[in-house]
Amino acid sequence: MKIIKTVLITLIVSQANSVVAASCEQTIEGNDMLQFNLKEIVMSSTCSEVTINLKHTGQLAGNIMGHNWVLSKTEDFMAVALAGGSAGPSENYVPLNDSRVIASTVIIGGGEETSVTFSLASLGIGEDYTFFCSFPGHYAIMKGAFIITN
Ligand code: CO
Repeated sequence: MKIIKTVLITLIVSQANSVVAASCEQTIEGNDMLQFNLKEIVMSSTCSEVTINLKHTGQLAGNIMGHNWVLSKTEDFMAVALAGGSAGPSENYVPLNDSRVIASTVIIGGGEETSVTFSLASLGIGEDYTFFCSFPGHYAIMKGAFIITN
């Protein structure tokens, strides 16, 4: 019995450690109400790369209520969102070969998940970044701050 307890405690402690280590990864959810569940994502500059997991918790299809996760500088965000709309569904509403796009996922529909992993090397602490969904019309509401700390 004592051994089992020790194993359990070890498991709990190692899980707690992995939570700390997993801070270079963030899951964000989008739903059928045009909402992300986070207004802000904070990542440490000590992460050489970060992973964003996007989960669509709704039921509507990707061509009706599609969501993606796109990151740009805040000053570029509107222009990238508009260019994404022009790029269309075949490009997941992300402008092709556009250096203003720091990272992006594909468009997903209800019940689907996707992720993107990217380097923070070119990003600066304290600079102003915005994440958003570039599905036409969504960016006005589905957006938030992406913050890099020490
Ligand atoms: Co969307």
